[in-house]
Amino acid sequence: MSEAAKSTQRILLGVTGGIAAYKTAELVRLFVKAGKEVTVVMTESAAQFVGTATFQALSGKPVYTDLWDRRPENGMAHIDLTRNADVMLIAPASADFLARLVHGRSDDLLTTTVLARTIPLIVAPAMNLQMWENPATQRNIAQLRADQIEVFGPGNGEQACGEVGDGRMLEPEQIAAALDAWAQPKSLLGKRVLITAGPTQEAIDPVRVITNHSSGKMGYALAQACMEAGAQVTLVSGPTALATPFWLAPGSINRVNVTSAAQMLAAVEANVDEADIFIAVAAVADYRPASSAEQKIKKTDTNLSIQLEPTADILARIAKHPRKSADPKKAGTPPYCVGFAAESENVEQYGAEKRARKGIPMLIANHAQSTFGSEDNQATIIDERGAAGAVRLAKLNKSVLARALAREIASRQN
Ligand SMILES: Cc1cc2nc3c(=O)[nH]c(=O)nc-3n(C[C@H](O)[C@H](O)[C@H](O)COP(=O)(O)O)c2cc1C
Repeated sequence: MSEAAKSTQRILLGVTGGIAAYKTAELVRLFVKAGKEVTVVMTESAAQFVGTATFQALSGKPVYTDLWDRRPENGMAHIDLTRNADVMLIAPASADFLARLVHGRSDDLLTTTVLARTIPLIVAPAMNLQMWENPATQRNIAQLRADQIEVFGPGNGEQACGEVGDGRMLEPEQIAAALDAWAQPKSLLGKRVLITAGPTQEAIDPVRVITNHSSGKMGYALAQACMEAGAQVTLVSGPTALATPFWLAPGSINRVNVTSAAQMLAAVEANVDEADIFIAVAAVADYRPASSAEQKIKKTDTNLSIQLEPTADILARIAKHPRKSADPKKAGTPPYCVGFAAESENVEQYGAEKRARKGIPMLIANHAQSTFGSEDNQATIIDERGAAGAVRLAKLNKSVLARALAREIASRQN
């Protein structure tokens, strides 16, 4: 938990000879825009695809291609470059380059720099489908992973050669996001986290619903943050237009789509027994129509009343749910439950009361004015210490806030 995020401020970016090298120009732009320092090293083949001038202009720094470069004072670019970087990223990494890495070759500046480094190395392979599926490449990738080299991708889809399948380099935005995610402390490694997100819709008739303005952004950001922290996440989502959070580890997210509060409860109950942590972010309807008309209700000139009945309180139920699990640490007890509440005034007091009422160890009170539909959120953390021990966080972008909350949850849950 006290583990700090890895620094990715100074990036040594290797570019090798693949068509995707043109996308790396955009990647450099994204990194620079995010305030990072980027130094580019290219192989001779990479320079066949994109000129050094492009990378120099985008990075604002000299580009290195030659082992015998005399610019560094000590004449050893391969040593100097890694000493002045936090992380080394090769994008695209060609099949040839991966093979040379596996064998510890140092026959050009980039391979020699890799060998001389003490900083972490990440490769983003990019090649034609057959080259990727070739047993030699697969052996090489397995060996690189065994050597603690991180592999981003490859992606799947249309390739420059006309094939469709695995082998494309991830998109620049995905690589930038993956690097950011990779750097996060793994405070939830091995944990299973169940999260609800978004609104629910309660049917009035086949075409009309009662719903609310929840966008799902906070829940999705938390799902992403928990995955980045090493957890396996089940995301039970009400209706939203949001894409499933992206993370590179296959199988680290399972999304279950639901519409109503009753469906959300059923999906949560179906997944809770193996969960270590339950985070209830969804804005679940408190009431639903006592009955839903089978046919569309016709418009008339008279008033219409809809009888409402309360829905089940998912969080309060799960807080009392004895898990059925083969794991003795879980069996018979509820998961660690975290609730969310939107409060517009007396945030600490109302939040503390709600935490006690729900019987949960931790409640995150949103400041209602700052949250619905917004990219930012302000939150106050309330735990067993009640209103007096409440921790008010600064107003933050929901992704940044989610990472902070994931760390707070991890530190209390363990
Ligand atoms: C037009 C063209 C496109 C190529 N695209 C790729 C590619 O996408 N991925 C790859 O691994 N190799 C590709 N190659 C082959 C590499 O450029 C070749 O293996 C080269 O030796 C790689 O050198 P490097 O690893 O030192 O950069 C391509 C070759 C040509 C001529």
